[in-house]
Amino acid sequence: MSNIEKSTALDCIFGRRSIRTFTNQPVQEETLTMLLKAAMAAPSAVAKDPWRFVVIREQKVLSDLGSGLPNGAFIVRAPLGIVVCGDRNAAHGGLEGYMVQDCSAALENMLISAHILGLGSCWLGVYPREERQKHVAGVLRLPAGVEALAAVAIGYPAEKRSPRTRYNDSFVHYEAW
Ligand SMILES: Cc1cc2nc3c(=O)[nH]c(=O)nc-3n(C[C@H](O)[C@H](O)[C@H](O)COP(=O)(O)O)c2cc1C
Repeated sequence: MSNIEKSTALDCIFGRRSIRTFTNQPVQEETLTMLLKAAMAAPSAVAKDPWRFVVIREQKVLSDLGSGLPNGAFIVRAPLGIVVCGDRNAAHGGLEGYMVQDCSAALENMLISAHILGLGSCWLGVYPREERQKHVAGVLRLPAGVEALAAVAIGYPAEKRSPRTRYNDSFVHYEAW
């Protein structure tokens, strides 16, 4: 890695890795609030903020949630789960595309701030898999018009993963393709 990638400020980007094993240490309330504040600091089309969050600490709910996520059953072993949902009617122009982009930006902010706070986290895909969305909506009793987009497993990391980028020169074009 170059010196700039090793710089402390950028560690929050390069050091964030998907963490799937956690210690038993609980996540304090004020840490949770900070994650949510970071999420809601994300850019949003026309600042419509269509993001909604369901915070889950109960193991039974985490277990029910994970049972419908083929690659996310490990969320039951996290002390905290946050499901990012979108309210389509709140999104700019009522458009799904804006809702998804805004909520993804919020989610990424949450992952980065988790890393800054010494936590580990992993994005668990829900949208656009309809069967997963239905499952999550059922477990969390989401109201009509609110869509489950992703779940995030969060806790203090029980594994260490190295900082990295997947930078690829061939993905970048200058002035035109
Ligand atoms: C839309 C999306 C869905 C994902 N779904 C899962 C998932 O269901 N289970 C999982 O373990 N990781 C999931 N991930 C995490 C990716 O596997 C991970 O980000 C990728 O392998 C890169 O590794 P890194 O996060 O450590 O940089 C998902 C990531 C994204 C962006």
